[in-house]
Amino acid sequence: MTTAAAGRARVLSGFRPTGPMHIGHLVGALENWVSMQDTHECFFAIADWHALTSEYADPSRIREHTLEMAADWIAAGIDPERSTLFVQSHVPEHAELHLLLSMIVPIAWLERVPTYKEQQEQVSQRDLSNYGFLGYPVLQAADILVYRAGFVPVGEDQLAHLELCREIARRFNGLYGPIFPEPQGLTTRVPRLPGTDGRKMSKSYGNAINLADEPDAIRRKILTMVTDPARKRRSDPGNPEVCPVFDFHRAYSDAATRAGVDAGCRSAGIGCVECKTTLLGHLEPALAPVQERRRELMAHRGRVRDILAEGARRARVEAGATMRLVRAAMKIDAGGL
Ligand code: TRP
Ligand code: SF4
Repeated sequence: MTTAAAGRARVLSGFRPTGPMHIGHLVGALENWVSMQDTHECFFAIADWHALTSEYADPSRIREHTLEMAADWIAAGIDPERSTLFVQSHVPEHAELHLLLSMIVPIAWLERVPTYKEQQEQVSQRDLSNYGFLGYPVLQAADILVYRAGFVPVGEDQLAHLELCREIARRFNGLYGPIFPEPQGLTTRVPRLPGTDGRKMSKSYGNAINLADEPDAIRRKILTMVTDPARKRRSDPGNPEVCPVFDFHRAYSDAATRAGVDAGCRSAGIGCVECKTTLLGHLEPALAPVQERRRELMAHRGRVRDILAEGARRARVEAGATMRLVRAAMKIDAGGL
C-alpha cells in the first residue's frame, strides 16, 4: 500500500523457488521479513528467473515451487495487503534492467564473486558454465535496484552479491547520474537452525524440516536427530552447547524450559528422547498455525494466484517508474527520439 508506506525506507528481498521452504528459512529469514513489514515498505520477490539459471535443463518444477513458496510466505505472516509479494518473471522490468546493467558490468567482477566458482565446483549434476549463471548477481542487482530499495535482508552467503550490487549502482550513477541508492544488506543475528544431522539446514543435505511436513514426519525427524555425540548412553552427561537439538530449544522453547533442559542434560537427569519430546511440545504448537494457513492456501490456489497478480501489478508501477529514469539516463528511451 503506497500510502501507508509513504516515507518508509524500502526493502527488497527474495528467494529462488528451487524447493520447499524449511523451518530454517522461517527462523532465519521469514520471521525477520514479517517484522520488517511494520517498519518498512517491503517488496518480496520469488526469483524464478534466478531458479532458471541453474534449473534450465529441467524447469518442470519451478512453477509448482513458486506457488508453494508464495503459500509458505503468506502462511508465515507476509501480509499481501501491506507488502508487495510477487514473482520476478511477472515483472519484465527486472529483465530489461538486467540487460542494461550488463553493459556496464566488467566480466572480471562477476568471475571473482565467490559463489560463482564455489557453485561451479560443488554442483556436479548440472552444467553451470552458462552466460545466465555468470550474470546471476547482475540479475539480483536488477531485482534490488529496479525498486531503488535501500535495504536488503539476506543471509550472510549473499553479502558478496550485495557488495557487487553496490558497485554496480555506483558505476551506473557515475556514468549516467545519481539514480540508484546504494542498498545496504541487513543480516540477522538470529542463530541459524541446524539441520537434523547438525550441519546447516538445507534441502540438498536431506536434513531439513519443511513447513509442508506432516506432524508425524516432523516428529520422526526430531526423534532421529543427532545429539551431543559424546552422550552415548543415557547415564552419560551431555553438553547442550554442542547439541543441535538445543539450538531448536533456543528457537522454540521458553527460558524456563531451556534452563531445565540445560541442567538435565549436563547432569544426565533427562535423556535425549525426553529432551526431544519436550522440544516437540513447543515446536508443534508454534508451527501448527503456519501449517494450517499453508494447507488452507494450497486448497485455494486461485487465491494465491490472485495475490501474486496484484503483487506484480503493484511492483510494475514502481519498477516502471525506475525504468523511465534509467532509459532516459542511458539515452535509450523511445520518447527521446
Ligand atoms: N540470490 C538469493 C538467494 O539465493 C535470492 C535472490 C534473488 C535475492 N534476488 C534477490 C535476494 C534480491 C535478495 C535480493 O538466496
Ligand atoms: Fe542434546 Fe537434549 Fe540430549 Fe542434551 S539431552 S544431548 S540437549 S538432545
